[in-house]
Amino acid sequence: MTVPSLVVEDVNVRFKQSVILDHMSLDFADGEFVSIIGTSGCGKTTLLRAIGGLLPEATGRILLHGQPLNAPDPRVAMVFQHFGLFPWKTVEQNVAYGLDVQGRTDDDGNIDRLLGIMKLEDARKKYPYQLSGGMKQRVGIARALCLEPELMLLDEPLSAVDAITRETMQYEVLGLWERQTRMNALLVTHDLDEAIIMSDRIVVLTGPPARIVLDVRVPIERPRQLAGIRSHPAYLPLRNQLWDSLQGPEAARAPSGSSQESAA
Ligand SMILES: Nc1ncnc2c1ncn2[C@@H]1O[C@H](COP(=O)(O)OP(=O)(O)OP(=O)(O)O)[C@@H](O)[C@H]1O
Ligand SMILES: [Mg+2]
Repeated sequence: MTVPSLVVEDVNVRFKQSVILDHMSLDFADGEFVSIIGTSGCGKTTLLRAIGGLLPEATGRILLHGQPLNAPDPRVAMVFQHFGLFPWKTVEQNVAYGLDVQGRTDDDGNIDRLLGIMKLEDARKKYPYQLSGGMKQRVGIARALCLEPELMLLDEPLSAVDAITRETMQYEVLGLWERQTRMNALLVTHDLDEAIIMSDRIVVLTGPPARIVLDVRVPIERPRQLAGIRSHPAYLPLRNQLWDSLQGPEAARAPSGSSQESAA
């Protein structure tokens, strides 16, 4: 077994009396793309924030390539569920923010390239209040990708984007992940198809406190195309298994119909 690049070990988070993460442990292989799905409020964002070093109250150990993550770290970029843009900065200033903070300059023209990919060229001088929800999310993704991080944490980054843009952006995010060897990606999504298209592996949580009810590999070769995925023999059984597991641990252990033999 290879040494995992990201280790989450015995992590606990409680807010007042509520236990949200309870002895959570997960390992991630080098360069793995993992999706996390689960019902609303089960602790997905909390897990991502703990991994991103944004929760000082978290106990336990989180290691990226052997080095602890217990505070915001230049190796990690996060796309927040609720955008996290600076209202007083323009689109291009928001995208450049991570580089500025790290004292880095945009020598390779990454900002222009990402503004192009995210279809934000015409909005580069605009402020967040002038943008739609989908545009704000695209700014958040561009800002994170600009950093070329070792670990990318994506909290429902495409939930406010229309279906066509969403599909385009799924491929763009995948393309950038594929080009950047060793980058680990953790994606929280409520969209089962998105999880299947993007991921090497899918973790299903219920809670709170968050518990892993299913941890499966996606047995579909890359590169993937949406049409091809839907007709792949592994697609429907896997989708059924994910759906069943979202209903709770009992359903995950005894999935209905054909879903049991999928992706084990
Ligand atoms: N800062 C906080 N203080 C107190 N409670 C919190 C805080 N952040 C999250 N919680 C609670 O922790 C639980 C898990 O929240 P979290 O945001 O991690 O859920 P989630 O799985 O991301 O949900 P969603 O799918 O709706 O985004 C919820 O009950 C939430 O109310
Ligand atoms: Mg959330």
